[in-house]
Amino acid sequence: MRISVIGCGYLGAVHASAMVELGHDVVGVDVDGAKIAQLAAAKPPFFEPGLPEILTSASASGRLRFSTDIADAADATVHFVAVGTPQTRDGRAADLSYVDAAIEGLLPFLKPGDLVVGKSTVPVGTAARLASVIAGRGNGATLAWNPEFLREGYAVRDTIEPDRLVYGVADERAAAVLDEVYAAALAAGTPRIVTDYATAELVKVSANAFLATKISFINAMAEIAEATGADVTQLADALGHDTRIGRRFLNAGVGFGGGCLPKDIRAFTARAEELGRGESVVFLKEVDAINLRQRQRVVDRAIEALGGSVHGRKIVVLGVTFKPESDDVRDSPALDVAVQLKGLGADVVATDPQGIENARLRHPQLSYEPDLDLALRDADLVVLVTEWRPYRDLDPVRVGASVRARTIIDARNVLDPETWRAAGWHYRGMGRASGASVLS
Ligand code: UDX
Repeated sequence: MRISVIGCGYLGAVHASAMVELGHDVVGVDVDGAKIAQLAAAKPPFFEPGLPEILTSASASGRLRFSTDIADAADATVHFVAVGTPQTRDGRAADLSYVDAAIEGLLPFLKPGDLVVGKSTVPVGTAARLASVIAGRGNGATLAWNPEFLREGYAVRDTIEPDRLVYGVADERAAAVLDEVYAAALAAGTPRIVTDYATAELVKVSANAFLATKISFINAMAEIAEATGADVTQLADALGHDTRIGRRFLNAGVGFGGGCLPKDIRAFTARAEELGRGESVVFLKEVDAINLRQRQRVVDRAIEALGGSVHGRKIVVLGVTFKPESDDVRDSPALDVAVQLKGLGADVVATDPQGIENARLRHPQLSYEPDLDLALRDADLVVLVTEWRPYRDLDPVRVGASVRARTIIDARNVLDPETWRAAGWHYRGMGRASGASVLS
């Protein structure tokens, strides 16, 4: 099939390359000329494991092109809209201007039988509105909503082998077209659920709301665990054995960040309020509040660890991205903690395997040191805020020899407290028993 992907950011660039893997001819379109030039040279403008490989093979096959001119989408019969829906200035609702502009841009080129497929995360009701915009033009094209559930760090796999496909459609033909697009994934056994527009839109926002709730739930338990001397990681393991609950997304720590969960729960709340149903999701405000509190708890812990003030003390912040295997620093809890500590007068040195460039653009006031060993030298305090593999694998004995004081705050609960304590470190996790050896 001939496919266009409008918007070649994170979602679109991965989707365009993955569609070639699934056997289609694809043109990726974006208004950002620099981004298109990089993609056309098979160089992803961001870090995503596996993307360079599929981008290179897709480009070499001659079945993937990139363009800044939306007219190049005219040959395609299926048009994915994968543009961003950032937070509006007031920090609540979703800004739909890019989605609206993408549809407007496509309208002159749509032909009878074309299918426009929304992938962006949008407030419930958007698809129905856009379907009538398209129908109003009378060019015989229709709309489907096919939300994307990909995780950064696993985006390629999540796109080629998704857990499920959700089609929000207004007619059977649209579902048949999507079946053809995803034939390879369906043949591999991917379940597909065909719904109306509103349900498809709601699946996406409620999935993210649920994941955010799960994380804030365990972080709330971490707060209680701390007050009682209990250990939240053992609690999560025990809870996780209940198959109704499951262990995933029960890692307590500094909380969630990134370009999706925080903004999506706020946009969902705003939309529910617009619909007169604000009270149904009022708990999401608490989910957000618990989440933001974790960042403060890490900062407070740092102050406490340094005897009441961080002023003038060297604090090494391990990680600036919102999670490992990504260079994304959007709403990153790690960066927020680093900035807060700096604001309190600490001599903060932040390090990260991939995120320094993006972090520097946002927070040039921080000091960055890409070399982990150099960063750690003479530290008064180490704070692990993003659980990259090199930080999980740190040898407490070796690191202990180069720091000024052996104090570590493990804000992701990924280190073994016993090993670190045995190497002479003062170890503090989040909601973990604070000293006494735990029988296993
Ligand atoms: C999320 C959804 O998982 C994905 O389905 C959706 O399409 C986009 O939003 P992503 O933002 O890539 O994906 O990251 P995710 O892996 O969900 O992690 C989100 C945040 O939660 C990260 O900051 C992560 O560190 C944090 N997290 C995750 C926890 O704090 N604890 C956990 O147990 C799991």
